[in-house]
Amino acid sequence: ISVLSVTSECAPLVKTGGLADVTGALPRALASEGIQMRTLLPGYPAVMAALGDRTEVVGGFDNLFGGPARLIFGMAAGLEILTIDAPHLYDRPGGPYIGPAGGDWPDNPERFAALSWIAAHVAANGADGWRPQILHGHDWQAGFMTEYLGQMGEHDVRSLLTIHNIAFHGLVGPERIGALRLDPSRFHSGGYEYWGAVSALKAGLVGADILTTVSPRYAEELMTPEFGIGFDGVMRSRRENLTGILNGIDSEIWNPATDPLIKPYQTPRGKLANKAPLRAEFGLPEASGPLCIIVSRMTHQKGLDLVLEALPALLEHGGQLALLGSGERELELSFAAMAEREANVGVRIGYDEGLSHRMMAGGDAILVPSRFEPCGLTQLYGLRYGTLPLVGLTGGLADTVINASPAALARGVATGLQFSPVTAEALRNALTTLCRLHADQGIWAKMQRNAMAQPVGWDQSARAYAQLYERLVAS
Ligand code: ADP
Ligand code: GLC
Repeated sequence: ISVLSVTSECAPLVKTGGLADVTGALPRALASEGIQMRTLLPGYPAVMAALGDRTEVVGGFDNLFGGPARLIFGMAAGLEILTIDAPHLYDRPGGPYIGPAGGDWPDNPERFAALSWIAAHVAANGADGWRPQILHGHDWQAGFMTEYLGQMGEHDVRSLLTIHNIAFHGLVGPERIGALRLDPSRFHSGGYEYWGAVSALKAGLVGADILTTVSPRYAEELMTPEFGIGFDGVMRSRRENLTGILNGIDSEIWNPATDPLIKPYQTPRGKLANKAPLRAEFGLPEASGPLCIIVSRMTHQKGLDLVLEALPALLEHGGQLALLGSGERELELSFAAMAEREANVGVRIGYDEGLSHRMMAGGDAILVPSRFEPCGLTQLYGLRYGTLPLVGLTGGLADTVINASPAALARGVATGLQFSPVTAEALRNALTTLCRLHADQGIWAKMQRNAMAQPVGWDQSARAYAQLYERLVAS
């Protein structure tokens, strides 16, 4: 089965979050299931540079939303990449969505409409003899692909949209319908219309043959008003075609036994050699309590404001915090101030892949107090590295951590802690429990062994995607 993955980011070429990790890992994970996946990416400078001159042109367009474009094929980081060389849309400094000054690019609707339009074009007409049987899009950036596919006449292509985060709706005013090459007759509540605006996400949610999201629990949550954020009705209407498939992690990159960025280890004991250097790196003294880490985008979703409130419960029990992250300015400043005040808090504002590995290796516990979390990857890294996750009971965090309840402890299967509701009060209690568990060396070591043995790779989920593809192609 051949599949075109349609995405706005893909690690290691371009990444702002977990979406990139997932789209970067899927092709390799699926290859062992007999799936041939190519990845369609916008031709950002980083992507064009990674492809270098090992490319061939497989298509040209005179006017792709305001300028000429070429579709090129090449290999990068072991991935088969189709990329859209369209300088007027993608050849800019800054991130994939945000300009150097900080705001969204004003033409983001067109930039990702172009991604979706090319996806549909490749599905309908092929690119140099290669044609996918399935379009697999990710998030709102791929939302219009089925709209355009519908305009391209008869075809047998199937479509699947994965929701990584429903909070991003891909909204734009209806005056852009023409510029976006959308069929105006589909601007209604059964189409891409959303409260008077155009929503790329909505287009995908109603248009794709199958919807998936990145954990079974989030699939359930999406059908509720609290988590559906305006789309719960649409999600309920698509219940029969909605599945949650857990993300895996790249178990070669995230392997404590071979990780070149740390002092490698196979058992929890080996973490000790990584702990002192980590403390030194964050300017933290020796301490008796757990060394907690956080690696995160700093946004409301991630619940870091709750950590600011609940932190005394950790510090009072001899615990420490090392945080790496960037995002909302107010949170960055609050954590920096906290680090100034508290000897046992260390903060690094920025993005640092290497440091994130050293933190997973040297930390005792990882805090992920998200208000919602479609899947979450850092708790999975934590499990693999024996860094016990303390997480909010939501989404993928609920599906991947075995809470240290009395029953789980009695059975010897616990791998972390979950707290609910996701409030500062409940987090405070959970931090106190964490310190108590940490003080019992026998229990803690057992939990660490459980965590490191928990399967967090792609095997099971790759099979689940392959089965969905097979069902789709047969339908
Ligand atoms: P989300 O995609 O919502 O940000 P995930 O947990 O799915 O959450 O994925 C986040 C990814 O980004 C992980 O690979 C994590 O290690 C990485 N990451 C986030 N912030 C940083 C940072 N400041 N430095 C290094 N890696 C980071
Ligand atoms: C989104 C979600 C995160 C998920 C990632 C990859 O960024 O916030 O929970 O792990 O996508 O699917």
